[in-house]
Amino acid sequence: MKVVETVRELREQIRLARQQGKRIGFVPTMGNLHEGHMSLIDAASEQCDFVVASIFVNPLQFNNPDDLSLYPRTFAADQQHLQDRDCNLLFFPSVDEVYPAGQDLQAIVSVPDVSDGLCGASRPGHFDGVSTVVTKLFNMVQPDAAFFGEKDYQQLAVIKKMVTDLCMPIEIVPVATKREEDGLAMSSRNGYLTAQERENAVLISQVLLQVIESLRSGNKDFEQLCQQAKSQLSAQGYEPDYVQICQAQSLKPASKADTSLVVLGAAFLGKARLIDNFTVDLLS
Ligand code: PAF
Repeated sequence: MKVVETVRELREQIRLARQQGKRIGFVPTMGNLHEGHMSLIDAASEQCDFVVASIFVNPLQFNNPDDLSLYPRTFAADQQHLQDRDCNLLFFPSVDEVYPAGQDLQAIVSVPDVSDGLCGASRPGHFDGVSTVVTKLFNMVQPDAAFFGEKDYQQLAVIKKMVTDLCMPIEIVPVATKREEDGLAMSSRNGYLTAQERENAVLISQVLLQVIESLRSGNKDFEQLCQQAKSQLSAQGYEPDYVQICQAQSLKPASKADTSLVVLGAAFLGKARLIDNFTVDLLS
């Protein structure tokens, strides 16, 4: 696996791969890689001939400076993980390489509506930062396909809409959430949990699954279901941000007539902000 730090070197490597007629798959990451990321790499190498990963902790998507400075940076281990899998090229740019004119004067890509609620409401500007950096990375790599985890369900919806609205010729491939044995969704932020919090961390997924079960059994009192889920989390030491039932495609709040739904939740447990989601199709 080759590691490049500049856009110029990246483009040269991509040019060589394209010359050989290779289909290029891209996995953008912020590093601190775990098996969730590796499942994206595996999906990319199954569907493409040349896999590019990026590691870039994007300052533009952090609305809290402490969160940015504390974000785990584990380059040596990440490089080893990628090397051990079928990653062909790792792009590891500096902040100056990605934002040569500075962040304040950067043109912003903003995807309306789908960016606004849920995590977008509690992390203002977060999704503008994500869509801007992903656009830049897409323009640098120019992949045929890009792979995103379903754990970040809203991020995936934002990227899908961005690609459609801006006519980007890139296939967006969703990859199922990878979970620990007890069901906790894998996330770089799980590393912030103490041993005791870690034992309690699976509750967020269990609570969301209980909402799914209630929906399946015909309960349509969405308000009460979400309230009850948040109360259960609070009772176990979480600080819930939201639990919401939305239309699975648009992420608009669901109405009783909707059948394709997603239940999403976010909550702090100690220093870790945990998010998770499950979809349900009430017709199946
Ligand atoms: O999901 C992430 O790790 C980041 O939001 C992404 C997509 C790499 C953009 O910085």
